[in-house]
Amino acid sequence: MPRILLLLSCILFLSQSSFVDDIEYLTEINNNVVIGIFTQPSDPDYVDYPSSQYSYLAASYVKFVEMAGARVVPIPYEADNTILEKYFLGINGIIIPGGASDLDTPTGPSKFAKAVAYMVNRALQVNEAGEVFPVFGICMGFQTLHYIISGYKTPFLYRVYGENGISHSLENGDRNFALYKDFDDDTYQAIQTNQYLYYSHNWGVSPDLYKKYPSLDAFFKITGTNQDNKGQTFVASMQGKQHPVFGVQYHPEKNIFEWKVSAPHSYLAVKVSANHIDAFVNYARMNSHQFNAEQLNKAVIYNFKTVQEKNASFVQVYFFKNGELSL
Ligand SMILES: *[C@@H]1O[C@H](CO)[C@@H](O)[C@H](O)[C@H]1NC(C)=O
Repeated sequence: MPRILLLLSCILFLSQSSFVDDIEYLTEINNNVVIGIFTQPSDPDYVDYPSSQYSYLAASYVKFVEMAGARVVPIPYEADNTILEKYFLGINGIIIPGGASDLDTPTGPSKFAKAVAYMVNRALQVNEAGEVFPVFGICMGFQTLHYIISGYKTPFLYRVYGENGISHSLENGDRNFALYKDFDDDTYQAIQTNQYLYYSHNWGVSPDLYKKYPSLDAFFKITGTNQDNKGQTFVASMQGKQHPVFGVQYHPEKNIFEWKVSAPHSYLAVKVSANHIDAFVNYARMNSHQFNAEQLNKAVIYNFKTVQEKNASFVQVYFFKNGELSL
């Protein structure tokens, strides 16, 4: 093909791609990335840290972000919007982690869901105004994003079976999923044949939900699926059509950092996981939010110690007394 035609077809192809693909992936404006990771209410099994007084954050999410060259600030789920806004203006992206917190309650969205929704809605606002502020939901965080974008439809999750500690190969994968950008072809091939994606969930998001609630279909593109042991299909990963909002039902951080569960730790499984966070943090490099030095010193994770909590499925956990995290 003559060179000019080739160039033209490339331009045509690019103009049809989504907003997320159009972002100049390698145009970094900020190499001092700070990622906010949401805390959630402590678990009833952690008897020394009652959920009425403590929140927690598994250390694996912190290390996951740090290995991609960013710093971490824990975001207090119990904070009011004034405090959340101060965090928002200092961080370059957020991660909503896995866990077992309630999203909906008899009186509407839980405190956790509302705090996440505040941040996500701010992210959408600034993205629409031309900033890049990426959001990454993992497992429960992935479900939380669906809950918020559906307009708090409830109940919307369905029970999955045999999914509590199991690995799958990728099905119906989208090679253009933004968090797979760093995959070379061999790695992408490998995740379709090897069981690297580690799941630990009792609830799932059915692709049917995207038909039931058109706001989900308008917002997200499904980028992979899997099936539970009853043959029910659930969404494995998705991304925003117009926004850098990403989610995975599986747990990439566990392949690298968790040892109490059966997540695969092979060379390629670890590389696949690392590629997710490298790609995510690279989106955050396009955001220019910044804390002042005093705020960052106060909020950064280095101020806190991990605990080896017997009842946790995590090797190390951070606990925070309610109100301890603030700006
Ligand atoms: C672990 O959980 C059990 C059952 O809830 C409880 O009896 C025990 O005290 C817990 N241990 C710790 C260290 O939290």
